[in-house]
Amino acid sequence: MTGHAAAPRPLQSRRTGALSGRVRVPGDKSISHRAFLFGGLAAGRTRVTGLLEGEDVIATGRAMRQMGARIEREGEAWIIDGVGNGALLEPDGVLDFGNAGTGSRLTMGLVGPYDFTTTFVGDASLSRRPMGRVLDPLRQMGVQVLARSKDRLPLSIRGPRVAAPIEYRVPMASAQVKSAVLLAGLNTPGVTTVIEPIMTRDHTERMLDGFGAKVSVETDASGTRIIRLEGQGELKGVPDFVVPGDPSSAAFLVVAALLVPGSDVVIENALMNPTRTGLIETLREMGASIEAVNPRLSGGEEVADLHVRHSALRGVTVPASRAPSMIDEYPVLAVAAAFAEGETLMQGLDELRVKESDRLAAVAAGLKANGVVHEEGEDWLRVTGRPDGSGLGGGRVETHLDHRIAMSFLIMGLASQHPVSVDDATMIATSFPEFEGLIATLGGELQPAE
Ligand code: S3P
Repeated sequence: MTGHAAAPRPLQSRRTGALSGRVRVPGDKSISHRAFLFGGLAAGRTRVTGLLEGEDVIATGRAMRQMGARIEREGEAWIIDGVGNGALLEPDGVLDFGNAGTGSRLTMGLVGPYDFTTTFVGDASLSRRPMGRVLDPLRQMGVQVLARSKDRLPLSIRGPRVAAPIEYRVPMASAQVKSAVLLAGLNTPGVTTVIEPIMTRDHTERMLDGFGAKVSVETDASGTRIIRLEGQGELKGVPDFVVPGDPSSAAFLVVAALLVPGSDVVIENALMNPTRTGLIETLREMGASIEAVNPRLSGGEEVADLHVRHSALRGVTVPASRAPSMIDEYPVLAVAAAFAEGETLMQGLDELRVKESDRLAAVAAGLKANGVVHEEGEDWLRVTGRPDGSGLGGGRVETHLDHRIAMSFLIMGLASQHPVSVDDATMIATSFPEFEGLIATLGGELQPAE
């Protein structure tokens, strides 16, 4: 069963004593999706450890199985026997991606050039999200799209007999769009080129290289990246692929430790790829004590343990240029800002409008419900903090099927004067099934709500 079919489960958090201890964050969601996609496509066997077993990632694994990959869990590891590049099978039935934007969009790219029909469905949240950003470049490559409501799920795509390589300039800062075009290039003759004026997470480029694809990246004087992929080459399984811990999940625990007085916490195994560390940079500017200790390499990526101590925060202006490296972290940053001295201004947030929910509106509504002074603009948010949390909380937050809205406001309730409840915690399982357990391990209190 996918998460969207479950009955809503309201949950509440309340002010807690100091958080303490060591916890390990689960695998990175972006990298876990790609491990199933690339392992399922590559010839031979890929063995993955540290995979995030969230519902979103499992949906991607299921889709790859439906297209011929063998995927089994063996003890701690996932064993994937891939089909070989160019050899995906027509799926047996529709591909149901539940809540997962990354899984659905990257898979559209992957199967786009295949001369068969693939049908994509998802939950109410995913069915509202724009797919044109991926379908437009695919159309340029010759892919046909059939959708009842314009470029929204449910929809079907069918590739041409032979797809045409394109040069595509990504019009918004989106790793999903970049990745979808590159993945379409895998089964297209010739060189597919993606021009990326604003750098976004680079897991696709790094991992394609690791799986043996012929991919090159050039950065010009203005910082624009030009990524070239030679189509129809061989991809080979990776015998020992390690997924580093998810910095976007670590973010909730980091903010919890910063906000709850007396806290002293170590969060192990956080990915430190510079395209993902914008929140840490911002929190440090706000006065946060976050030390990255024991830096090391894991699966070709830098990871570290984050030693976080309760800190007095002050408001800052977060530049729009930082948005790509912390795009999923604005909801929890808004919660941190609610406890900072003065104002925090976040700019360049237009992409938040098309996440699992309209995250800018959902955050603003949650702040309002919990007594936080704020102002919402078209693509910005200003939050005025209350360092001791007095008067904050007491609200019930509508999560709109958005896991990060649920987790962010549950973190707020650990430090606010009054408890905070969310209307539904089930979606947390899409990205961070261990969330409630880890909060409890650190000493936080979450309990069922009305
Ligand atoms: C992701 C890219 C981002 C991010 C999402 C994961 C990825 O989305 O918000 O959670 O794995 O490529 P966009 O590409 O829409 O910015």
